[in-house]
Amino acid sequence: MKLSETQKKFVEDLLGKMTLEEKVGQLNQDSPSIVGGFDVPFEELIEMLTDGRISQEEFGKIMATAERDFHEDDIRAGMVGSVMGNDPVKANELQKIAVEETRLGIPLLMGFDVIHGLRSVFPIAIAEAGTFDDDLMERTAQMAAKESRAYGINWNFAPMLDVARDSRWGRVSEGPGEDPFLASKFARAKIKGLQNNNDSVDSYVAACTKHYVAYSACEAGRDYNTTSMSTSQLYNVYLPTFKAAMEEGACSAMASFNDLNGVPCTVNSYTLRDILKGEFGLEGFVVSDANGIRECVTHGIAEDDVDAGIMALNAGLDMDMGTRIFYNHIAQAVKDGKVSMETLDDAVRRILSVKVWLGLFENPYVPQEAIEAYKANLPKEHIALCEEAAEKSIVLLKNEDKLLPLNKTDKFTLVGELADRPDEVVGAWSLAWEKDDCVSIKAGLENANANFEYYPVCGPEGEINAEELKLAIESDSDIVVAVVGEYTSMSGEASSKADITLPGHQQEMLKKLVAAGKKVVAVLMNGRPLALGWEAEKLPAILEGWHLGIQMGTAITKVLFGEVNPSGKLSSTFSSVNGQEPMYYNHPNTGRPGSKSKFTSKYLDAPIEPCFPFGYGLSYTTFEYSDLKLTENKDEIIASFTLKNTGNVAGTEVAQLYMQDVTASLVRPVRELKNYERVQLNPGESKQLTLSLRKCDMGFYNNDAKYVCEDGLFRIYVGGNSKDTMEEEIRIKF
Ligand code: BGC
Repeated sequence: MKLSETQKKFVEDLLGKMTLEEKVGQLNQDSPSIVGGFDVPFEELIEMLTDGRISQEEFGKIMATAERDFHEDDIRAGMVGSVMGNDPVKANELQKIAVEETRLGIPLLMGFDVIHGLRSVFPIAIAEAGTFDDDLMERTAQMAAKESRAYGINWNFAPMLDVARDSRWGRVSEGPGEDPFLASKFARAKIKGLQNNNDSVDSYVAACTKHYVAYSACEAGRDYNTTSMSTSQLYNVYLPTFKAAMEEGACSAMASFNDLNGVPCTVNSYTLRDILKGEFGLEGFVVSDANGIRECVTHGIAEDDVDAGIMALNAGLDMDMGTRIFYNHIAQAVKDGKVSMETLDDAVRRILSVKVWLGLFENPYVPQEAIEAYKANLPKEHIALCEEAAEKSIVLLKNEDKLLPLNKTDKFTLVGELADRPDEVVGAWSLAWEKDDCVSIKAGLENANANFEYYPVCGPEGEINAEELKLAIESDSDIVVAVVGEYTSMSGEASSKADITLPGHQQEMLKKLVAAGKKVVAVLMNGRPLALGWEAEKLPAILEGWHLGIQMGTAITKVLFGEVNPSGKLSSTFSSVNGQEPMYYNHPNTGRPGSKSKFTSKYLDAPIEPCFPFGYGLSYTTFEYSDLKLTENKDEIIASFTLKNTGNVAGTEVAQLYMQDVTASLVRPVRELKNYERVQLNPGESKQLTLSLRKCDMGFYNNDAKYVCEDGLFRIYVGGNSKDTMEEEIRIKF
């Protein structure tokens, strides 16, 4: 986000005209209140949803018709800076009040969670990151931005940039996996896609990077839980994505709910002022997460709302999401000298700058054509991009005796309730999808005229239907495609789990099918890496499908029949059993690396190896790596090697380069991803490839938050995942 001198002057002039109250108004992000349209109080409705008295679908229906109060009088009085919502007609109405009926005519920021597409739902982020395809990640963000504008949204609460190492945490689904390097590439691509497509005013939005910071490091994987860590860990693991996003000019950030080393991120001036705004140079603003300011009272760091509001604004938090604490108390706090006018002006200036950058003063409204564009069917190119992203995100985890791809004419049995749930393909944080756009796996197979019988048998919840299981076992085909995994509601916010094996009776269903002599192909639909020890050992084929978005069924069908050769890789390590979590490949070296001998870092009752490592994913062909050589120039190390397609179909491989700093002043990870490239190869074809490693990327942050590059021995690994690699050593003097 860069403003011209004229734009900066415009902001200053406007600021100069504002009253104290109008300034405070800009810091207020308002959500419409739900005021009726149903028979019980709203709180009870939420409880009914939580305890299962009403389903998610019933809740959605009630909400869709609920009466809302958009606080129009507050907007008219200039007391609202931003509104949450995704209705373009309502957005235009509210914007008209802000622009035409307020004293200064300042437009509203319209914020909404557009995490992996809006109506065009793309794969969840953990899946999309596994494409290792930066260009794709940028294009899906671009499309999401364009659709957002048409829905009246000009500020996306995305990208979610929490590097996550513990799969018990439900929000792993929303972010780009466990690796800071890959996640930072994802961050750059998303900011470019959301913000830089400014060929027309309707095609870009302001990004909001979240959740700042270290939210994913919550103890025991339990959402909202406490986090504590060293400075070096904060800088090396949790900050790089945000740094990368700021370098790309991200407009805003959302402070996370958690405390970090005892200070909630909402009121943490070290992370907000010193690092984000100071060191990383955020020019836009920081918003709290929903209710975040009030939660500082619950955290026990602020005595009351007033105290919490003052602490937050002074710490560098500029906008209040949802509590109205700034609205109610900041004007008085300025009059009492508890917040300086300079601090308030800085926050307002940042918010106004984003509005100016977005062009809202010139173009505040959603044009009618844009609203019309999505009323009917989704445009073809949107569906095509959803399909491309879904296809590239699928990861082939196991394929014994080349069971896959299936022969299209051969009969098979399809089981699993999830196979016939178009509403479950979208994944967590999909808020504007339409059922008619969604292709379930069963529908995808039907569209391709596949030859199968379907028995749901069992889903992530509920019992096994014995009659259906019997029919599935008795069916004359010996191949069973079992769609198993998690409901959308089992990952995402407030969806941490202590048990991350296949939920419900699904594994029992698989065991019965295997015992009956069926060759079971598991197709997984899930929002987190699952602990797959049993499945990996006993099933002949496993396809990781995640929640792939609206074209899930089409993409899975094409992969099952070999029309698309899978090329996705895991952006997160998969454990074998629950107790291995948190499990991630780039862990620090111990003094006693786990081995067969007794006194080493391991479990008595579980393997030390992951079930599937980071970067892992098979293909219908095979790839061979050879001839690794390292050369060095002034700025880089170049790894050259040969990659050959040794199978008999064309395929795409993600070649990966890892590094280990063998001896350093701090214990370093056993491996760290440093570069990658997607390479397409025909059968028998081999290519000479190079992957470079910039010397400036070979350092690390120490506990004084200083980035240091230390001379010494480095090990370089190249291969198709983080475990199976070739290696060479090189001594470097920086
Ligand atoms: C979530 C955020 C989200 C916000 C607004 C919060 O509960 O943590 O990720 O952007 O709600 O919907």
